[in-house]
Amino acid sequence: MSLTFTLDPAVTPALRDGVLGLWTDVSNAGGSVGFVPPVTPDVVRPELVKHLVAMAEGRTRLLVGHDEDGRVAATAFLALNTHRLMTHWLWLYTVMVHPRHQGKGYGRDLLAAAADAARGIEGIEAIRLTCRGGLGLERFYGSCGYKEVGRVPDAIRVAPGDDRDDVIMLLPLR
Ligand SMILES: CC(C)(COP(=O)(O)OP(=O)(O)OC[C@H]1O[C@@H](n2cnc3c(N)ncnc32)[C@H](O)[C@@H]1OP(=O)(O)O)[C@@H](O)C(=O)NCCC(=O)NCCS
Repeated sequence: MSLTFTLDPAVTPALRDGVLGLWTDVSNAGGSVGFVPPVTPDVVRPELVKHLVAMAEGRTRLLVGHDEDGRVAATAFLALNTHRLMTHWLWLYTVMVHPRHQGKGYGRDLLAAAADAARGIEGIEAIRLTCRGGLGLERFYGSCGYKEVGRVPDAIRVAPGDDRDDVIMLLPLR
């Protein structure tokens, strides 16, 4: 079994609802994708709309993975830099695999597909992302070739008294 990855899928209502459902389910399962549980789709939707606007403006590309039942099972957003001196690398945001599919190697497949997608974009030489410390995510990204290049202590307050490091990871593409 594997996911089928598509770069720049048609943004249909089914795709929007699928990504929104994925993001909500991943958040409610404790995933580090910008929220703390519990969340509803209404809470997540404005963040998705920001990505959709950036996609419509050509600043962001969506990589989506569908499972064998045709459900949206994984995503990553590739965001180009607007700063004129930083156009040779991009940001990867909202890397997630549906909880029902985690631990099957799909996350690694997703990051391999993201690296392929980035290599296919003219002038892109590296992928940068940030992740929440304390969850072992550095190990996941490390297993996909990323290196930790920075760490801002206690930058993410998931709850009062529970601060996590903001970890910066980098994947050179050449
Ligand atoms: C992080 C995530 C994308 C990984 O996807 P996945 O399909 O579960 O991961 P894989 O099955 O491809 O695992 C690849 C490797 O990373 C490890 N790994 C996966 N998730 C991990 C985690 N949270 N902490 C530590 N290691 C992890 C696996 O053990 C595996 O290593 P191994 O081959 O040595 O056993 C997925 O668990 C997820 O969506 N989590 C919730 C959202 C999230 O936190 N995203 C990160 C945003 S920065």
